[in-house]
Amino acid sequence: MSPRRTLALLVLLLAALSALLTYQGRTGSEPLDARGRPGEQAIRAYLEQIHDGPGLGNVPPADGQFLHNFIVERDFRQGLEVGTSNGYSAIWMGMALRETNGHLITLEIDPERAQMARQNFARVGLEEIVELREGDALRIIPELEGPFDLVFIDAYKEDYVRYFHLLHPKVKPGGAILAHDALWQAEKMQPFLQAIRDHPDFDTRITRSSKAGISVSTKVDNRQEGQMPEKLPPPAANGPR
Ligand SMILES: C[S@@+](CC[C@H](N)C(=O)[O-])C[C@H]1O[C@@H](n2cnc3c(N)ncnc32)[C@H](O)[C@@H]1O
Repeated sequence: MSPRRTLALLVLLLAALSALLTYQGRTGSEPLDARGRPGEQAIRAYLEQIHDGPGLGNVPPADGQFLHNFIVERDFRQGLEVGTSNGYSAIWMGMALRETNGHLITLEIDPERAQMARQNFARVGLEEIVELREGDALRIIPELEGPFDLVFIDAYKEDYVRYFHLLHPKVKPGGAILAHDALWQAEKMQPFLQAIRDHPDFDTRITRSSKAGISVSTKVDNRQEGQMPEKLPPPAANGPR
C-alpha cells in the first residue's frame, strides 16, 4: 500500500475513533441499542449524572427503579407524570415505556426545569417516547383525553387531591395512580390519601420499598363482573332430570 493510502486510512480510523469517544462522552458510556439509540446502561449512567441537583426534588434512584419495574411488569403503555422537574423520574419511566412500546406525557410548570428536561430527554434519545408539556398541570389535565395505564403524581402535595379528582376518570380499569412522598409528606397529602382510599374504584397500598413512600392505587376492573352471564335459576324441584 502506498504511503498516501496508508495515511488516508489512518486519518479515517482516527476520525471514527474520535466520533466513538465523543458519543461515549455524551451518554456516559456504551453502545447503541439495535435501533441506534443509547442503550439502558448509558441511560442509567446519565441518570446518575443528573440526579438531585439543588432544589430539583428528584425521586431517589430506588423509586425510579420501582416505577420502571412497575410499568414493565404490567406491560403499561400510556403514562402521565405530574411534575417533571429536570426529567429524572420521566427518564426512568421512559426507559420502561421504550420496552413496552409506550408513551409518557409529563407536565412541568417551571420553564427553566422544562428546558432542562427537554435537553435531558434528547441526550438519552427518549424525546420521541417522553413528551413534555409545559404549563400548569391543573389547566392541562382537563385537555388530556387519556385513558392512561399509569399516572405518577409528584408535584405540590397540597394539589394532589385536585389532580385525583381530575384524573381518576381518565385511568383505565386495571391501571394505577401512584403518588410520591406518601410517608414523608403524609400530612400534606392527607386529603388526597383520604379521597383515594374512600373511592370504591381504587384499591390503595403504600409501598414500603420506597423510604419516601409511594401510594399505589389500582383501579378495580369492574368490567369483568359486568360481563359475567346471569346466574342460572335453580333447577325445578320436580322437573325432568
Ligand atoms: C418534586 S419535583 C418533581 C421531581 C420529578 N418527578 C423527578 O423525580 O425527577 C415537583 C415538580 O412539580 C412541578 N409543579 C408543581 N406544580 C405544578 C403544576 N401545577 N403544574 C406542573 N408542574 C408543577 C414543580 O415545578 C417541580 O418541578
